[in-house]
Amino acid sequence: MNTAKAAEAKMKSNDFLTLLDYSPAEINQLLQEAIILKDKKLQNDSALPLKGKVLGMIFEKSSTRTRVSFETGMLQLGGHALYLNSNDLQIGRGETVADTAKVLSRYVDGIMIRTFSHKMVEELAENADIPVINGLTDKYHPCQAIADLLTIVEKKGELKGLQLTYIGDGNNVAHSLMVACAKMGMEFSIAAPEGYHPDKDVVSLCEEIASQTGGKITITTDPVSAATGADILYTDVWTSMGQEAENAKRIEVFQDYQINEDLVQYAKEDFLFMHCLPAHRGEEVSAGVMDGSHSVVFDQAENRLHAQKALLVQLLG
Ligand code: CP
Ligand code: NVA
Repeated sequence: MNTAKAAEAKMKSNDFLTLLDYSPAEINQLLQEAIILKDKKLQNDSALPLKGKVLGMIFEKSSTRTRVSFETGMLQLGGHALYLNSNDLQIGRGETVADTAKVLSRYVDGIMIRTFSHKMVEELAENADIPVINGLTDKYHPCQAIADLLTIVEKKGELKGLQLTYIGDGNNVAHSLMVACAKMGMEFSIAAPEGYHPDKDVVSLCEEIASQTGGKITITTDPVSAATGADILYTDVWTSMGQEAENAKRIEVFQDYQINEDLVQYAKEDFLFMHCLPAHRGEEVSAGVMDGSHSVVFDQAENRLHAQKALLVQLLG
């Protein structure tokens, strides 16, 4: 096997960079393991499958949920997590990604990374001998998507056939959700202003996957048509990390894309409101919907812990 092929094969079996590399059966298995681990936690079961294992966590962007859920998850599984701010690593002073991957592989058992460039994470994974987990890039946020699927299964009892409507920016969270929905045979609709639609390459991959799973992808500029009949209404910030300079313009462009009391009337009566958090009440969501009876945002946040523990056991165990 040549190096490129070997790297590709390794990425598929050992890394978690996007859900594109996971089959529906593998996603289901991960969800089942998460449910078992969550249940064990509730029963205070003290099995320590990652005793002595260390996860290195590289952060080039801020985080509350990802950092705390991975660190807590490792501790609960018997292991340890190291918080590595990229500014404090030599990578911030020009050491190559490849060299960093090779060195960290000699010390720790897995790497979780949150950064800007998805290509950088792929390069890290290609050069590391240990599993690499994507904790968010500009392109994808698969850890969020797996926790979101877990939350939907818990609340709705199934995934296939459900309609998830995303209102807002076609960003990293939207991309990973679209992949997750396509894989699981769900309908994914997104309403976003012209110029803020999801990337075409991700859309065409998802359309191809959906054609095999019975899912459906709809892309529109009209929030009302997208929200009509939805089982789940989902949104994320209008300005993602790294886009701060565009904030004023984005607030203007996205004005008609708020999930609020008017828009939710078009969804099913028992719709769920979901948000990956952090949220900006009064921007992408009204305070009433965010804190209302349909909102499951804090269950979603909790499920980051359980879903990632399943992932950690699978990759590092
Ligand atoms: N949803 C999410 O990834 O949150 P953090 O940015 O706080 O990690
Ligand atoms: N789209 C957001 C998600 C934060 C969890 C961002 O990238 O900032």
